[in-house]
Amino acid sequence: MLAKSLTLVAAYAVVVSAQTYQRLGTCPTLGCILPPDQQDFLPGQFFDLRFEVHAPLNGSEAYNNGEPDEDFSATITTPAGETKSIAEFFSVEEPELETWDFSWYEDLFAEDAGNATVVNVASKIYRKIALYTPGDYTVTLAYYDGSTTEASWTVRPIAKEKKAKNVIFFIGDGMTTNMITAARLIGHKSVNGRYQSLLAMDDFPIVGHQMTHSIDSFITDSANSASALYTGHKSSVNALGVYADSSEDTLDDPKVETIAELFMRIWDGAWGAVSTASIADATPIALLGHSRSRYDYGALVDMTLNGVANYSWVASRGPDVWLGGGAEVFYPGEDSFNGGDYYAAFAEQGYQVALNKTSLEAASSDDKLLGIFCQSHLPVWLDRNVFRENLKDFENDPLGSEDAAVDLPGLKEMTLKAVDVLVSRGSENGFFLMSEAASIDKQMHTMDYDRALGDLLELDDAVRATAARLEELGILGETQIIVSADHGHGFDVWGSADTKYLSSRHGDREKRRAVGTYASSGLGMYAEGTDGISSYGTGANFPANWDPRYALAQGFGAAPDHRENYKVHKDGPRTPAEELVEGDYYANPEDAVDGFLVNGTLPADASTGVHSLTDVPVYAMGPCQHLFQGTYMNIDVFYKMAECLGLAWGEERDVCDKRHWKSGKRGNGRH
Ligand SMILES: *[C@@H]1O[C@H](CO)[C@@H](O)[C@H](O)[C@H]1NC(C)=O
Ligand SMILES: *[C@@H]1O[C@H](CO)[C@@H](O)[C@H](O)[C@H]1NC(C)=O
Ligand SMILES: *[C@@H]1O[C@H](CO)[C@@H](O)[C@H](O)[C@H]1NC(C)=O
Ligand SMILES: *[C@@H]1O[C@H](CO)[C@@H](O)[C@H](O)[C@H]1NC(C)=O
Ligand SMILES: *[C@@H]1O[C@H](CO)[C@@H](O)[C@H](O)[C@H]1NC(C)=O
Ligand SMILES: [Zn+2]
Repeated sequence: MLAKSLTLVAAYAVVVSAQTYQRLGTCPTLGCILPPDQQDFLPGQFFDLRFEVHAPLNGSEAYNNGEPDEDFSATITTPAGETKSIAEFFSVEEPELETWDFSWYEDLFAEDAGNATVVNVASKIYRKIALYTPGDYTVTLAYYDGSTTEASWTVRPIAKEKKAKNVIFFIGDGMTTNMITAARLIGHKSVNGRYQSLLAMDDFPIVGHQMTHSIDSFITDSANSASALYTGHKSSVNALGVYADSSEDTLDDPKVETIAELFMRIWDGAWGAVSTASIADATPIALLGHSRSRYDYGALVDMTLNGVANYSWVASRGPDVWLGGGAEVFYPGEDSFNGGDYYAAFAEQGYQVALNKTSLEAASSDDKLLGIFCQSHLPVWLDRNVFRENLKDFENDPLGSEDAAVDLPGLKEMTLKAVDVLVSRGSENGFFLMSEAASIDKQMHTMDYDRALGDLLELDDAVRATAARLEELGILGETQIIVSADHGHGFDVWGSADTKYLSSRHGDREKRRAVGTYASSGLGMYAEGTDGISSYGTGANFPANWDPRYALAQGFGAAPDHRENYKVHKDGPRTPAEELVEGDYYANPEDAVDGFLVNGTLPADASTGVHSLTDVPVYAMGPCQHLFQGTYMNIDVFYKMAECLGLAWGEERDVCDKRHWKSGKRGNGRH
């Protein structure tokens, strides 16, 4: 029922000018439904449903003196054509009304003038509901006496049978086809244009393409792309496992159930995550984390251990294995949740805690395992394997001192250990593992191409070794392996650069003559050992020589001002731009001193490169590989994995059956 007391206006102008600055992404009108229009659901997947009615107090949309309609109502129409109120349809109690206000800038002019628009909001949220019957639904929000907002939702008809016992999902963060091509070139020898060996990914039988756009912007960050991949629901920049609402609390936004939560609930399966980033970073934390802000690191780690029940959500348990960096969120201090000791908190819940490679390798595969090897992100493959002296410069001891962590595992060692733990703990219910090569992205941001490509080759090495381990264990055939990315960067290679000639010339324009294109791009020299012998010195499929005279001429579409000489950064990770004036970044004068200047293409306050629009590849090998062929949205990766793992939960489910993956039945008494 609508408030009779409101001054009602029959219609109001819908503002469509706010393209890049949005009042609330997904909500172009004054009535918001979250999940919004055009969303898909897995049958039985839990989600929260929030309604917001906005009353802008001022600005171009000013309405109703800033008084939001507090008596809005909403209905849902089912595929059978039946219409009911939300509370009645989902058999839940009518939630309390919430009110708040927020402000935003309508465009750059308003921001420059500090002229923020104020919006008052009335809202309700229905928690932990689900749709079971496949088909099309319409949710209608009625407000301001005659205005309506509609959301069309689809519950996908997904088969319930489990087709693969296990899923291993490798994510090369920020990895594009261009980067894969460049990594293959430097890591694999070719003779007369024919490669003598290939990447492990190249041997996968199926390749697909996923589109990475966010729900409300076409360039994604790693939080909302991880949400799409893990939940089948698109989200907003910096948000994970939620649809972003307009309230200030980052933890109260409407949540959607993730693949890890579903896999535990439906199959009681084991799950784990491995990352070369901080384990609290977006890609690994989004498996169980739900927040409007990926920067809620401490709360997100607490959520992963203690379950999101504390945050009005489904009960869950922590990972069986969790390996990566991010020690500062675990030892007691300003970055851990409420200053707590999360090494101790995990240990209390039966976790073995490993803080270096030696103890990781010594850990039992039968017990839960937390492995945190350094503060922040792990030093990259190139520093761990080639320029090892640089490790001493990191002040990244996992216990919080300023010492350097030097006994570090890599992605391959972590992933193989995770597989052992999950095989043991998953026993007959199977497992889900996500393994992330995070620094492909992180090093591409700082335009440190060699470090990024080294970590891409490390990912490929991890994929190869994992498939070999599964084969050895006799479970390769029942495990679906996927290798993909969450988004790309505008990176490519256009030839080679004669670094000796480049260094000897004077002036930016003359130096650029060192770049050889087409016929002058020549042949890669990364395979030639410094002793002149052609070999791959740092193990299979890694370059023998990271500092050849003829290096790749490579670069970036979205960059700050920077200098290029195309040489490997032997002394440690690159800093391409420096804040020489407050808020204003210029080419770092100490980087590539003998190189030439490249003017930036980003706003002058950008210190690094940014993500780009490109679709990213999806490689698949396993019992459901055929599902991954073609071109599709990032959310489809979730539905394909859910189909593969039999996560759809129909109404005619038998929840008390004994679980066994081959029986196609499920349930562990979750009545
Ligand atoms: C602030 O924005 C309003 C509405 O867009 C506009 O009328 C007003 O001139 C702006 N004020 C300033 C100081 O820019
Ligand atoms: C809206 O009102 C607030 C204070 O009430 C003011 O600071 C702001 O500049 C106004 N914005 C616009 C766009 O008029
Ligand atoms: C989560 O809930 C448990 C049990 O109710 C409680 O002991 C713990 O302190 C809670 N954690 C947070 C972060 O609120
Ligand atoms: C590795 O960790 C173990 C126990 O956590 C410790 O005893 C050992 O000294 C560490 N080794 C190195 C090389 O730091
Ligand atoms: C870079 O931009 C500056 C102006 O901001 C210009 O003077 C200079 O010539 C440009 N340099 C190159 C290499 O394009
Ligand atoms: Zn990134």
